[in-house]
Amino acid sequence: MKEYVVVANGKLRQCAYDKLNETVTLLGWQQGGKMPREVLEERLANADALYSTGGIRIAESLLAKAPKLKVVAQASVGYDNIDVAACTARGIPVGNTPGVLVDAVADTAYALLLDSARRIVKAHEHVASGKWGERKPFGLTVDLAGKTLGIIGMGDIGSAIAKRAQVSKMRVIYNNRHQRPDDAELGVTFVSKEELLAEADFVLLAVTLNESTKHLLNKETFAMMKKGARLINISRGGVVDTDALYDALASGHLAYAALDVTDPEPLPGDHKLLTLPNITITPHMASATVETRDAMAMLTVDNILAGLAGKPLPAQVGRK
Ligand code: DGY
Repeated sequence: MKEYVVVANGKLRQCAYDKLNETVTLLGWQQGGKMPREVLEERLANADALYSTGGIRIAESLLAKAPKLKVVAQASVGYDNIDVAACTARGIPVGNTPGVLVDAVADTAYALLLDSARRIVKAHEHVASGKWGERKPFGLTVDLAGKTLGIIGMGDIGSAIAKRAQVSKMRVIYNNRHQRPDDAELGVTFVSKEELLAEADFVLLAVTLNESTKHLLNKETFAMMKKGARLINISRGGVVDTDALYDALASGHLAYAALDVTDPEPLPGDHKLLTLPNITITPHMASATVETRDAMAMLTVDNILAGLAGKPLPAQVGRK
């Protein structure tokens, strides 16, 4: 008889599934999609750990269904869906997966940055619709070289994006809660949010979603951006006011937006953003490579096993 019960609310990578199965009673959901709420609540009644694959709000109302819970570990770096204070109040540590996804997410951000300038996806659509040879309405694109990239949120992912942008000869400015000590080494310049919005040709969001960053880009702040600027978002959809973004793109104030995250998610196929000609949207897949998702899954398993053993988690939210 295994000592602990671990509930996973979505499909696990095989490596994580196998490792957990060796040591605990795993109540998983390998058939795809998310475990229905009533099944989750029923299983949590007896759970020692929750392996979250995202897509659920983890707050007091859910925690109250899980009286034995010793640890919550989510296979993502972002944890805006988790009420960490409510978990802490119950003595439950929360694990996430920083570090292991930096390159995958930075590569996606760089791809979207390039796409926002060079319209690779639109060019493909143009060709696929049999319009090769018709220059209009496709037209010319713009260079990255010599342009200014403004990164909002300069953690590990932000700095990995900066390095990629520098390969394309961009100047990089950034805004962050704190100025980094390695600005000179990274070749980036710390500026205020206002300066960044006024100067950047490309604004890239790599910031955590919280009370102070919700709708950081809104009607007023879009108006502070240069006419013809471009937006790339790989953080969370809620950092941007979707209606204001639609207006800024539809009016031509913004030239383009390339988004891996939206509000709402998933974005319905008939959403007005998708009617715009100057937008590329990918389905929150920045970290979705085989290697990175395996690494995220194994870090989540390590977080769970540490939590069950009463040890500090290898990646614990809020612990320095
Ligand atoms: C995360 O881990 O929070 C990312 O959004 C995944 O792509």
